[in-house]
Amino acid sequence: MASFFRKQIAAKLGEALQHSEDAFIPALTAVPVLKKQNAADFKLSVSTLRMNGILPTSGDVQLQAENLATQLKQDSVLEHIFADRGAIHFKVNNKLLVQLLEPFGKGEDEKFGLSSDLFDTLKRGTTLVEYSSPNIAKKFHAGHLRSTIIGNFIANLKQSLGNNVIRMNYLGDWGMQFGLLGAGFGQFGCQEKLKESPLQHLFEVYVRVNKEAEHNEGLKEAARDFFRQLEQHESQALSLWQQLREITVKEYQHVYKRLGVHFDIYSGESFHQNQAQEVVQQLQSRGLLTKSKKGTGVVDLSPDRDMGSLCTVVRSDGTTLYITRDLAAAVDRKEKYNFDEMIYVTDKSQSNHFQQLFQVLLAMGHSWADRCHHVPFGLVQGMKTRTGEVVFLEDVLDEARARMLQNMSQSKTTKEMNNPEDTAEKVGISALIVQDFKGPLQSDYKFDWDRMLQAQGDTGVFLQYTHARLCSLIQRNDGLEAATFESSVLIEQACIAILQHLLRYDEILYQSAQDLQPKHLVNFLLKLCHLVASAHRELPVKGSPQHVAQARFRLFSAACSVLANGMRILGITPVDKM
Ligand code: ARG
Repeated sequence: MASFFRKQIAAKLGEALQHSEDAFIPALTAVPVLKKQNAADFKLSVSTLRMNGILPTSGDVQLQAENLATQLKQDSVLEHIFADRGAIHFKVNNKLLVQLLEPFGKGEDEKFGLSSDLFDTLKRGTTLVEYSSPNIAKKFHAGHLRSTIIGNFIANLKQSLGNNVIRMNYLGDWGMQFGLLGAGFGQFGCQEKLKESPLQHLFEVYVRVNKEAEHNEGLKEAARDFFRQLEQHESQALSLWQQLREITVKEYQHVYKRLGVHFDIYSGESFHQNQAQEVVQQLQSRGLLTKSKKGTGVVDLSPDRDMGSLCTVVRSDGTTLYITRDLAAAVDRKEKYNFDEMIYVTDKSQSNHFQQLFQVLLAMGHSWADRCHHVPFGLVQGMKTRTGEVVFLEDVLDEARARMLQNMSQSKTTKEMNNPEDTAEKVGISALIVQDFKGPLQSDYKFDWDRMLQAQGDTGVFLQYTHARLCSLIQRNDGLEAATFESSVLIEQACIAILQHLLRYDEILYQSAQDLQPKHLVNFLLKLCHLVASAHRELPVKGSPQHVAQARFRLFSAACSVLANGMRILGITPVDKM
């Protein structure tokens, strides 16, 4: 329906300006719901039309808007058209707004907003999203948690918009840490403890070996030796490495499942050891590799080729680096999966790494590197549990669940339920996600258990609470679901506000697909919950005449569906009861 209104407006503009209608569709925006009553539903700013070369760039913007507004005739769909502050505003007939509710209750609730014309210009194809990517035996830090949930959101979003999505985890499963682990495991490792709590034990061994190696030259030598054996594929070293990797992946899979996250592929740096050497040879044969004074192999990325900006791809001892493996991995992924775009999700400290990666790929003649993107995010400060600093993802999830369980047991509104732990887990995770997604991804933020778990604030708990409340309303009024309903009764401002808000959903998804920021969707859903709360107070379903009850029921079920759909894209599993 949002699409219908956009088309109507575009057709009018197309006619008045003698221009193809398509140009206007993405330029129109649905106006956010404001308290004041007769705000417009859509607007189009003259500066956008100027930018697109549709209007001349000279003259007064407001005057241009006024001229254009007088050329556009009002009709039964677009009731009011006016110019204000350099933009044309369109007010849709409120009676037609109700038709937004048509698609609901027909088993197609999940598709709401997804078939909008807005998406016509978006390319659909194969998107490879690489996220989470922790390092074996090392700490799973807040950055890995952010990468995990942000990558999952991007993958979900792309998938809902019709892309074929490949979800990849690129493990840090190679490098000197394995040399140390391999050398130290014999001394400090214990197979039993490894079975009992693998991640913890590996981390313990890793920390211990690192400490020991500081003043133990022999151990350092043994570590280098072990890593050399690994690189030469010696079977004993390789089999220990493999065991440690397998156990780790299995543990992670378990935690990812709690988070509602999955991967199609567990790849890792180890897969690209040999290919990395091939990349070095290719760089050499293309004349891109230079030897630096220090004896390392570098690629000169400065525009004037004056060695002003260098990317090191080979160490002086001939071994490859993190970036060399990334070069090989990118080429390999393109060959294997032929993606149309690839997205890497890591903290912003790696921005330079990825810019260099894409530049070297381009220099090698891989023009598809233009369709590789890095989504950077900021740091999280102070992620701690009651027992101290976080080392494992599982600890964060346990703490979120425990705290939520406690809050639930203290709240008077908490319902009886079969599995309160499960509910507390889902709600706790949504609190983590919403806290993380509320602002721009690039910003740093302070981790705050109390604030994120507030039931009343703009939190994941509030989203879940609203969803559960809507589910209970739907359940209590079972049987009110009607094939047709009398739309003319939905006239109160509280109804109209929800409808006007739903009008923006496709645009919110469109915006999210453009900049891959989850904040648009989070803030949209939070606003929806506030509007639902007012409507809930003002518009009773029970006790109203049948036709009114039916229409309101439809409005609330639509809101419930959109809320659930949006939450799922964010990576949140909606609960029906809490
Ligand atoms: N394992 C890396 C780390 O923890 C992140 C990997 C990011 N992906 C990549 N293709 N380099 O920092």
